Amino acid sequence: MEAILDRYNSTSIEEVKVWFKAASINDFPADGGACVKYKNKQIAVFNFARTGKWYACQNVCPHKMEMVLSRGMIGDDKGTPKVACPLHKKTFSLENGENLNGDIDPIATYPVKIEGDNVFIGFAE
Ligand code: FES
Repeated sequence: MEAILDRYNSTSIEEVKVWFKAASINDFPADGGACVKYKNKQIAVFNFARTGKWYACQNVCPHKMEMVLSRGMIGDDKGTPKVACPLHKKTFSLENGENLNGDIDPIATYPVKIEGDNVFIGFAE
C-alpha cells in the first residue's frame, strides 16, 4: 500500500517541471471526470464546467486503493472543490487533497492549465 502511495506526490504550481499534454478539453465530460495515464500513474482530471475550473488528482482512492476517483461525483464543500469516491463516498478536496469527511490519507493533487483546446497537467518529474 505504501509503495503505491509513495509514487503520488502532490505538485504545486511552483514545482512544475513538465506540463504533460493530457488530452483535448472535449475528451472530458462537463462537470465530470476522466482518467489519463502519465508514466506509471493514473491521474483523474475533472472539468468543473459550471465554474470553468479544472483539477487533477491521483485516480487511486486511499481508502481501499481502488482506481476509481475519476468516476466520482464532483461538487463543492463551502467553496472548496471536491470529489466523492464512487465506492464509499469519502470526499477529498481537489485543492489540497485533504479527506473532508474522515481522517484517511490525503490524495495527491496536480496543477492543470488549458491552452487552446488542450488540457495540460503539471508534474514535478
Ligand atoms: S474506496 Fe474510495 S471511499 Fe472506499
